[in-house]
Amino acid sequence: MSNRKEDATYTMGRTQAETDRLIRQSKLYSSLTRRMLKQAGLGRGMKVLDIGSGAGDVAMAAAELVGPEGQVVGVDVNGEILKTARARVRQAGWTHVEFVEGDAGTLELGNDFDALIGRFVLMYLADPTETLSQLSKRLRPGGIVAFHEIGFNPNRLPYAIDTPLADKLVDWTVGVFKQSGARGNLAYRLYGTFVDAGLPEPRLEYTALGGGEPGWPGYQYVADSVQSVLPLLEHFGIATAEEADLATLPERLRADVAATKSAIVLPMTVMAWTRLPEDGG
Ligand SMILES: C[S@@+](CC[C@H](N)C(=O)[O-])C[C@H]1O[C@@H](n2cnc3c(N)ncnc32)[C@H](O)[C@@H]1O
Repeated sequence: MSNRKEDATYTMGRTQAETDRLIRQSKLYSSLTRRMLKQAGLGRGMKVLDIGSGAGDVAMAAAELVGPEGQVVGVDVNGEILKTARARVRQAGWTHVEFVEGDAGTLELGNDFDALIGRFVLMYLADPTETLSQLSKRLRPGGIVAFHEIGFNPNRLPYAIDTPLADKLVDWTVGVFKQSGARGNLAYRLYGTFVDAGLPEPRLEYTALGGGEPGWPGYQYVADSVQSVLPLLEHFGIATAEEADLATLPERLRADVAATKSAIVLPMTVMAWTRLPEDGG
């Protein structure tokens, strides 16, 4: 499509550290995503399209639900990260998951999918409504659409602790997503995105993960995420490596939690899922 809008600069970067971060991130969010996929109706024997597969965690969760009699096709523009996804699937001994390099908005795929799914991807697309609308045409009647997205809105970004470090993290996160052109607000508008794409009204669930205990993986997750966006934080003049001080960031957050006796609440995520009519109309 020649008149297609350009995607945003991919905010999180494409390094091996970012791939590793995605795998660790998935450990935090996998139970929520799996629950959504189950509630949406993913089940044995289905053929599933996962867009923005990254290191493959959502595709692998779907592969478990559909079983070896089903099939999962994962798509990502980043061919490099798909090497990790393929290696993980091989290691699991699965042959019913494949990954295809390409843009979810333009890639030619089959028209016989039972489900279209994704996590933390719609916000990076040039036109999420158009992509959802086009991709849902690849579904069979009664097909499932289920997405788990994350929101970065200055007024609704919690982190909960009220400290100068938490304030900075909010400013950096909101700033870098905004300046890179990603849609930090998409999670709050996911309902409208589904409806505008011509999909039946979705069910929605908003959830924010939180923690405060010393061993909580969220401290490292915040530092990992800052590490991935650091090149853009510096590029846009939002923060420097010295200010971010990644090596001490988890410890400083832990100390803030101990001093304020408040939990850290991570950015809110939204899960939205729906089903096309059985008659295909
Ligand atoms: C934040 S990662 C999420 C990965 C995975 N869904 C997960 O939850 O672990 C977003 C992924 O979407 C991919 N992506 C961004 N724009 C895309 C597009 N237009 N088509 C396909 N993949 C895209 C990125 O390369 C990246 O791997």
